[in-house]
This record gives sequence, C-alpha cells and structure tokens, in this order.
Amino acid sequence: MRLIDRWLARYAEPQEAALEAVRGLKPIVVVTGASQGIGLALARRFGRAGHDVALIARGANALEAAAGLIASDYAVTAMAIPMDVTNPEAIDRITAQLGANGFYIEVLINNAGVGLAGPFAHQSQEAIAHLIDLNVTALTRMTRAVLPDMLARGHGGIINLASLGGLIPGPNQAVYYASKAYVVSLTRALAAENAGRGVRMLAVAPGPVDTGFHRAMGTELSFYRQLLIALSARQVAFESYLAFKLGWHHYVPGLTGKLLQIAVWIIPHALLLPLMGWLLRRRDERPWHDVGNPSA
Ligand SMILES: NC(=O)c1ccc[n+]([C@@H]2O[C@H](COP(=O)([O-])OP(=O)(O)OC[C@H]3O[C@@H](n4cnc5c(N)ncnc54)[C@H](OP(=O)(O)O)[C@@H]3O)[C@@H](O)[C@H]2O)c1
Repeated sequence: MRLIDRWLARYAEPQEAALEAVRGLKPIVVVTGASQGIGLALARRFGRAGHDVALIARGANALEAAAGLIASDYAVTAMAIPMDVTNPEAIDRITAQLGANGFYIEVLINNAGVGLAGPFAHQSQEAIAHLIDLNVTALTRMTRAVLPDMLARGHGGIINLASLGGLIPGPNQAVYYASKAYVVSLTRALAAENAGRGVRMLAVAPGPVDTGFHRAMGTELSFYRQLLIALSARQVAFESYLAFKLGWHHYVPGLTGKLLQIAVWIIPHALLLPLMGWLLRRRDERPWHDVGNPSA
C-alpha cells in the first residue's frame, strides 16, 4: 500500500496551515446512511481495518446500536451522529461535533440515498425534489465541503455510492438512475481533476444489493429483483474497501455486476432501454399505457 499511497500523492503539496489545523486531532471515517444496509457494512469494514468511524443517519436508535456494535467488535471509536444530511448545515455540524471530540474527517463516504420507482409522470414533485436533495445536492455539498482541506493536507478520500443504474437510463426509475449518473460523472471528473494530489476519489456502482432499499420504494416484485442475483451489503463493502485502498476511481462490485456493466457497454440502447423498463417496472401498479393520464 505504501507504493500506492506515494503514487496517489505524487503531485501533493501539503500546506503547513492545513496540517497545523488538524494537529492533535485524530482522523476519522464519516459514513452517511450508516444505520443499515451498505452504509453500515462500510462502517463495519473500515472499523475492522482499525479506523475510527462516525455513523450518520436520521434515526438515532438504530445508529446508536450500530455504533455500539462496531466499537465493541473492533475496539475502535464509533460515534453516532443523528443528522439529516439534506440539511444545508449538516456537514458543518458534523465537522464541529467531530472537532469537539478530537477528530477530523479523513475519509467521507457519501452513502445515504433514496430510490423512487414508477412512471415519472405519476411521481409527486415533493418525492422527486427529496431524491435530488439527498442523492445529488447533499452529496455535492458534503464533497465540496471536505475536499479543499483534504487537498491542502495532501491526504484523504471520498467514496460516493453511485449505482450500476448510473451507467444507463432507467425507465420506471428515471430520476433515481439520473441521480446516480450524476454521481458517477461528478466523482470521475473530480478524480481526474485532482489526480496525484493525495486524495482518493471512488465511485462505487453496485447492481442490486440485498437491503431494505427496494422494499422502501415498492419494487420487491419487480422482475429485476426476481431475476438478477443480488449481492450482500457485506460483499459490496469488502470489495469497495479494497478498490478504495488500491486507488481506483470507479468500481462495480461482484461478478454479476461486472457482467451487467459489459452488457450495458455492448447492447444498443434501442434494445436495452425497453428491457430495462420491463425489469424495473413496479408490478403493483397500472400498466404503462395509463401513464399519460395520472388521474386515471
Ligand atoms: N440496495 C441496492 O440495491 C443499491 C444498489 C446500488 C446502489 N445503492 C446505493 O447505495 C446507497 C445505500 O443503499 P442501501 O441499499 O444501503 O439503502 P438503505 O438500506 O435504504 O439505507 C439507507 C440509509 O440512509 C439513511 N438515510 C436516508 N435518508 C437520509 C438522510 N436524509 N440523511 C441521513 N441519512 C439518511 C437511512 O437511515 P435513516 O432513514 O434513519 O436516515 C439508512 O441508514 C444508496 O445511495 C443507494 O442508492 C443501493
């Protein structure tokens, strides 16, 4: 890893003031959406590797329980910070709370995200705005807040949870797929912009993962859930951690995911998009020809 670290920091120019600002503080890995699913698995993976972790989500009880388990399983500090990351002040509050406890953000994992299934024309403006707020705006704001200090220190890392869905339009999950395309694009651009300056930037793009995410958006009966093999959150975390340490910019976990990525590259969109629409369609709603008339 030493060689990789040196390569990733080949153009780094650490600034004395930035190093001075964190002198006496300990590095910590901040994971948003860490009370369950992939976020929790990532927090556990970093904890297992000996990193102190800060877990962020809205629900305090699940968060406290998760942090308690990580602390006892891996003998690291695991802080629970209940917070809605769509609050524009969230990242400042998190940074302040960490600072007060003697920590600074060494790695940020923007994992909190929400899905939205069904025809676009049926979805409420509020649900669409909330998805963009969380999956796009909050992630961008948090990234922008921590990146300059990491660059100034010549050290750090950001993992953004994208999705295989970020590589292709997703009829019947249009806004969700579009939001993940944004995450892929932003992360890869920032990785290129800052190459060699000591900050790892990774977009993780999993296919389906077995978490509560699909139930929450009502797609457990959709054909993609029935036909595609889902990874465990643990597997995603295991592979993502490795990809992050190796300094990769974009990573698709699992063999099925990698095969699906190849399919996305080689199958013409004219064929693939109707297939995606069929796979993603919610089975509990009216047929597609009603879409033009949401009140029908
Ligand atoms: N599951 C999949 O198949 C899959 C595939 C590809 C990519 N992904 C992406 O991976 C990420 C995690 O997915 P997952 O399946 O683990 O989701 P999940 O099981 O639904 O967990 C979502 C987590 O985010 C937290 N959260 C939601 N809204 C939040 C907010 N406003 N502020 C702070 N925390 C918030 C939730 O806790 P609270 O509700 O208590 O806040 C929870 O801890 C998402 O970005 C998702 O898009 C998932």
